[in-house]
Amino acid sequence: MSDTNSPGQPGNGGPGDSSWPEYLTGAERHGATSSGLSGASAAETPGRGGPRRVIGTPPPAAARTMLPPDGGAAGREVARELPAGPEDPARAKRAEKLVAACFIIAGLAGLAFLVFYGTIGVGSLTRVLHSNLALGGSMALMFLLLGIGATLWVRHLMPTVELTEQRHPMASTPQERAAFKETFNEGAETSQFVKRPLVRRSLIAATVPLAVAPLFLLRDLGPLPGTSLDYTVWRKGLRLLVYGTNRPITAAEFSTPGSIISVGPAGYLADDDAMAKAAVTLIKFRPGEIVYGPPAKPGGPTVRNTVVPNWTVDNIVAYSKICTHLGCPAALYEQTTHRILCPCHQSTFLATEGARVIFGPATRPLPQLPIGVDSDGYLIALSDFNQPVGPSFWERS
Ligand code: FES
Repeated sequence: MSDTNSPGQPGNGGPGDSSWPEYLTGAERHGATSSGLSGASAAETPGRGGPRRVIGTPPPAAARTMLPPDGGAAGREVARELPAGPEDPARAKRAEKLVAACFIIAGLAGLAFLVFYGTIGVGSLTRVLHSNLALGGSMALMFLLLGIGATLWVRHLMPTVELTEQRHPMASTPQERAAFKETFNEGAETSQFVKRPLVRRSLIAATVPLAVAPLFLLRDLGPLPGTSLDYTVWRKGLRLLVYGTNRPITAAEFSTPGSIISVGPAGYLADDDAMAKAAVTLIKFRPGEIVYGPPAKPGGPTVRNTVVPNWTVDNIVAYSKICTHLGCPAALYEQTTHRILCPCHQSTFLATEGARVIFGPATRPLPQLPIGVDSDGYLIALSDFNQPVGPSFWERS
């Protein structure tokens, strides 16, 4: 008969083990008995006041372990799993000295670190340099020697042995599940949650607002964008103002081929929301560099590889500065290759061919802004973009 107050008694730990019922609740034991446990097992089962299985308590280990089954109390000779020492004692002795030397020097390097820290000041650049060298060097030496020593220790002092631990089914046994069910039901009963409908219902009512609260948080995402993402503030007649100087510009002032400047719509340069979509890049080309063609149709395919001729002024083309990948400002320009590069993810657009994508994750060309000149010779917009600017999304091709 096992000691019912000592859950770590010997046994194979399985449900059929005679020590197993010691971990079960009373009701479970009855169920186990009626479901076929032997009479002997049932006879060993303690009474209702015996120890109860606590949820989370592991069953006795069934695996081969480092401890003998009875903890060695019986004084029986138990076969060792691990060799007592290395195979070659002479070699191990040499390794021992080497390991000790590594550890001693590592300790001295650590002491040196402390000394350097206390004695080398950092009052000048030279002293900072010396301090960094001394501290870094001593610390690096310490860790290096500790690592070497530990490696030598493992490789030459410890015996080489291969251990195998068996895996066992992890599913709960019927007894464990029954114990959990009983504990759960007892807990529910003790908490009065079932018996007191007033408390139960008022608690449920109290938590309803908590469940609905996330819906209200959706409001913080702001109003629905509607069609606002499809348009910018550009409209016919708005002058192009140079970003930074806030001055309008004429085609004659922007006459150097290869030049690039950022411009915005007059009256909106200080409006961050408007400029988030309306920022434009002006590029001046040499005659013959631009590949002209018709505009992409709104709502149609946006893979355009030409510049719209009557949307330019004297070989000056205006493209949206907002990258069609994720909206970064695409404003790095290679004069010789006519490539506009977005620095965020390296989308590259070919400026002479309608800013079509030639590299990177963007899927649409940079939209072209139709431009002309007003009666004073200043560059103006002829309309808004005929394509939405900025990143693609599911409603936009
Ligand atoms: Fe321009 Fe990603 S935002 S490449």
